[in-house]
Amino acid sequence: MGNVKLGVNIDHIATLRQARKETNPDTVEAARVALSAGAEMIVMHLRHDRRHVQESDIERVRRGVKCFLHLEMAATEEMEKIALKLRPDSVCIVPEAANEVTTQGGLKLSGKTAGFEKIIKNISSKGIEVSLFVDPEPQDIRTAYKMGADTIELCTKIYGESWGRKNQAKELEKLQLASYLVKELNMSLHAGHGLDYYNVVPISRIEGMECLNIGFSIISRAVFVGLKGAVSEMKTLIS
Ligand code: PXP
Repeated sequence: MGNVKLGVNIDHIATLRQARKETNPDTVEAARVALSAGAEMIVMHLRHDRRHVQESDIERVRRGVKCFLHLEMAATEEMEKIALKLRPDSVCIVPEAANEVTTQGGLKLSGKTAGFEKIIKNISSKGIEVSLFVDPEPQDIRTAYKMGADTIELCTKIYGESWGRKNQAKELEKLQLASYLVKELNMSLHAGHGLDYYNVVPISRIEGMECLNIGFSIISRAVFVGLKGAVSEMKTLIS
């Protein structure tokens, strides 16, 4: 307890900018403010449809901000090329469907994994850490390990949705059990999706949790208290 890192996802700074397709709010400025408020990592998801973050956002943050930069992306050749060109410090491979409002869950890793393995190998060989976004399912975690991922990011979407409902304790337990397996396999343990100022605390207390990636709740809160305050409140909660 006490040293869980905070990755701040700034996608929705870009969502707001794209509403007018102007230059504000600027993702570089957002990254700087988030870091100054205690974030340890800046996270961006480059989607196939470019609905929020653009390649230029990642380029500008990489060039203009001294930070650990984490890119979320689908396992496609296009994204692999971009990752190899832009050189984030780490990449998280996530599933992506055309009309989803947000990521719908972890990767489904049963069956064909050859495409994933090639991308993981190509990216890792350039010194970029690779994380796979998976549900707290032992089979998916074992498969991710066999495929050569360094890190598991456990998907907390269902847990987040369970908050205040009957299945809350069960969903938390699933994440706790999954975390034992991740640590047994000697992988780094991260988690994210749907975490907010209420449901984040039990997840931050999971033994071995190293980093939480949080976007929507922080950017939403920033509308009222400012980004610096929103990030530092979250950092305080998970520390
Ligand atoms: N982790 C992953 C892998 C994600 O895809 C996302 C959403 O982009 C997040 C974390 C952050 O989720 P939220 O915006 O709900 O905090």
